[in-house]
Amino acid sequence: MCGIIGIIGKAGVAPLLLEGLKRLEYRGYDSAGIATLVDSRIERRRAEGRIVNLAARIEKEPIAGQTGIGHTRWATHGIPNEINAHPHASSKVAVVHNGIIENFQALRKELEGFGIHFETDTDTEVIVHLITHYLDEGLTPEAATAKTLHRLEGAFALGVIFANESSLMIGARRGSPLAIGYGDGEMYLGSDALALAPLTSKITYLEEGDWAVLTPTGVTIHDETDAVIERKIEKSAASGALEGKGNYPHFMLKEIFEQPAVIGDTLHALLNPVTRTIVLPDLPFDLAGISRATIIACGTSFYAALVAKYWLEAVAGLAVDVDIASEFRYRNAGMPKGGLAIFISQSGETADTLAALRYAKKQGQHTLALVNVAESSLAREAEASLLTYAGPEIGVASTKAFTTQLTVLACLTIALARARGAIDHADEARLSAALTEVPSRAVEVLNHDERLKGLADDIAGVRDVLYLGRGTSYPIALEGALKLKEISYIHAEGYAAGEMKHGPIALIDEGMPIIVIAPSDPLFEKTASNVQEVIARGGRVIFLSDRTGAERLGRVAAATIELPEVDPFVTPILYAIPVQLLAYHIAVLKGTNVDQPRNLAKSVTVE
Ligand code: F6R
Repeated sequence: MCGIIGIIGKAGVAPLLLEGLKRLEYRGYDSAGIATLVDSRIERRRAEGRIVNLAARIEKEPIAGQTGIGHTRWATHGIPNEINAHPHASSKVAVVHNGIIENFQALRKELEGFGIHFETDTDTEVIVHLITHYLDEGLTPEAATAKTLHRLEGAFALGVIFANESSLMIGARRGSPLAIGYGDGEMYLGSDALALAPLTSKITYLEEGDWAVLTPTGVTIHDETDAVIERKIEKSAASGALEGKGNYPHFMLKEIFEQPAVIGDTLHALLNPVTRTIVLPDLPFDLAGISRATIIACGTSFYAALVAKYWLEAVAGLAVDVDIASEFRYRNAGMPKGGLAIFISQSGETADTLAALRYAKKQGQHTLALVNVAESSLAREAEASLLTYAGPEIGVASTKAFTTQLTVLACLTIALARARGAIDHADEARLSAALTEVPSRAVEVLNHDERLKGLADDIAGVRDVLYLGRGTSYPIALEGALKLKEISYIHAEGYAAGEMKHGPIALIDEGMPIIVIAPSDPLFEKTASNVQEVIARGGRVIFLSDRTGAERLGRVAAATIELPEVDPFVTPILYAIPVQLLAYHIAVLKGTNVDQPRNLAKSVTVE
């Protein structure tokens, strides 16, 4: 993870580096720092914790310099203190790094053999000393960096500046994304176009193995063999405005409340409400010819994949495998010809998901990326992509990205079902109509916020929480548990309701709240039986259902939230909302940092 930025500017760059880092904070917030060239010497300011700490430090101790690099860190090697904060530097070179150098132990040993002293526990410091070592041998900055890059194993995006070279900056990419930005007599480096958006919209995305030499007037890009290569300049659509929280106390709450609107925006792109049909953008493969689908993702996006498996199998009659990207990429999975591999990712930069995409391409699969960031690596590398129109998601816990992913997947399900002849026009119209109702139903769900806040009071003090669901409600149970874990730090587990009696029912006692996700769908009675089993053992059930479901269960649950009655097809989209709100209010009561929970980062660019 980590975010990096670099600027060869015309005036003092510290404020611009800080602004860029704020835009990259979603990538990590353990520590931050900048390095600039002041009178051709490398100067640094670094601070533990969030960018505000670095800003305070720079206010006390301002830093000049027209060329500089900056970094916001998600710690991999070495605890997140100031010593381990980037940029790392010698008297000759300063480096910011996103990724992991896998052979750093061997390189460190080698360099220590030359009498070089290491100050930090990081893997990055070997890059500083290797480049310095080659500079000491008389190589130019370009040659010293190129030679260093060939010695590194692992994943990285790098930004490097050199003492006495105020018009030079080098960037390199292998495994982690890096963009070059073009200004007027200025040049920029950034982990993404968003970081550079206030500076420029002219962007070149480096390809795997590329390294680039920047001067104030341009860039020379080399490929992995060091040959000079042209890469195209694109116009980025990333907005220069920094997202604000509006009147909300947290981004997460704002993003939860944006869901009716962004689900509507996403539907608007894919569904014609007049004809009640799904209209996908042109795809470079024929949906009717798809023999099997494999859906791959991580975390919350993986739970969206799991919902899609139920949908695609039931509605489109398509065989579907779903897999966690970090497992899939090393499993040597056989992928039959004619298969479609779908990759779901909010950021489009998740390292494991990207690796899985590359594997699937090698297996001859058609590849489709479902992303929220149109210019992301996943979107650029997949054969085709579908966008979620969630807008920037700043809260680290994913909310609106998840429900818009589900919305796209629901549309894709209908399109695939139609192409395969599994549904007729009447079915398509019914399912489409159910989808068009989701934004207004989502507003009704949000009206339960106060009630959920009240329930949060009873849960905030507990140690463990269980979430149960069947069918498409099972992934929502998993998602509810993940939301609670990541922002409230309460242990929670999601279980398939029918699986309870195979072990976890032993956990049930009066102290354990059990959140049951049970819309009145064809599996309702089965889930209701499981609820009775839990209640018979003293379990305290919070029942998320609709009026019909609540009546069918009777008054046995400790609390019931009555959600709108909708077509069972769309319930996972709507039932995601109360579990988000519950987690949010519990976290607020616990006083955690809701938007930036401990140990996490928004974009996971290391494996
Ligand atoms: C949980 C969460 C993560 C992400 C996961 C994948 O709230 O946000 O589990 O879903 O890291 O990220 P993307 O979707 O960017 O690939």
